[in-house]
Amino acid sequence: MSEAKNIIYLNGNYMPVEEATVSVMDRGFLFGDGVYEVVPVFGNKLLRVNEHLSRLQNSLDRITLANPHSDEEWSKIFSGLLEKNAGEDRAIYLQISRGVYPKRDLAIKPGYPPTVFVMVLQVTPPDLEQVSAGIAVITVDDFRWQACDIKSTSLVANVMLKQQAVAAEVDDAILIKNCTVSEGTASNVFIVKNNVLITPPTGHKLLPGITRDLVIEIAKNNAILVEEREVKEAELYTADEIWMTSSTREIAPVIRLNGEAVGSGAAGAMWQRIMDLYQQYKLLLRSSNEK
Ligand code: PDD
Repeated sequence: MSEAKNIIYLNGNYMPVEEATVSVMDRGFLFGDGVYEVVPVFGNKLLRVNEHLSRLQNSLDRITLANPHSDEEWSKIFSGLLEKNAGEDRAIYLQISRGVYPKRDLAIKPGYPPTVFVMVLQVTPPDLEQVSAGIAVITVDDFRWQACDIKSTSLVANVMLKQQAVAAEVDDAILIKNCTVSEGTASNVFIVKNNVLITPPTGHKLLPGITRDLVIEIAKNNAILVEEREVKEAELYTADEIWMTSSTREIAPVIRLNGEAVGSGAAGAMWQRIMDLYQQYKLLLRSSNEK
């Protein structure tokens, strides 16, 4: 049986991924001069698409790149792609780079169209049993820049940090800057202490995760106390629970930190409660009529 074609969107056209090409002079290729988004899709419904598009706008504003599309145009591109690619639970990946200039030059110049690329990621939905087994992480020094709120395609620092986790044979890393927690290599971090959910505040040190916001919203709607405040590195070692959240990971319980057990050494009760509520939210989205 032949594999279904992976159809992508590039600068106004839909085409098989094998036929899509971008110039070597593209500033995304030369400088990582671009931004991106990853939007989860459940049963053809996009999760919090307005929030993703507003974060995209923020990233574009921060790098002074005009948004090439209105929200309606983005929605049309997304539904066009979802129609052309079969699947249920997956994600939309979109990236916009500053386009192709004739010369390699850091300076921004007007008059060059951006490169717009969108594809469907075949994300395997996390298997609940596997997720509840938890993940092992290490702490690493967060040497990134002071603009981590931009969802930038310049990800070499994140690649290097993730590689430290790979070398240590663990699943991921929690990034520490000045003895405080910033986030994961591609996720946000929560701790639970005495039934209070605690996560670092948004700002230049981390990406304002859409999953993070959803988890906070779900917790508050269910009378769980939430504190958005600085989390000291030392608090990780006395936390009852630690979680990492992202569009693709959803909510992953951390059961080992630098080789030591976190809390009881298994996914905690608060994680189970929020995870159940998160799964209910997904089910509602899947069965909702609005796109
Ligand atoms: N990354 N922090 C960083 C550095 C991230 O890269 C991500 C997500 C998050 C969580 O954001 P959200 O909940 O909106 O997914 C936090 C995506 C999934 C990626 O790069 O693939």
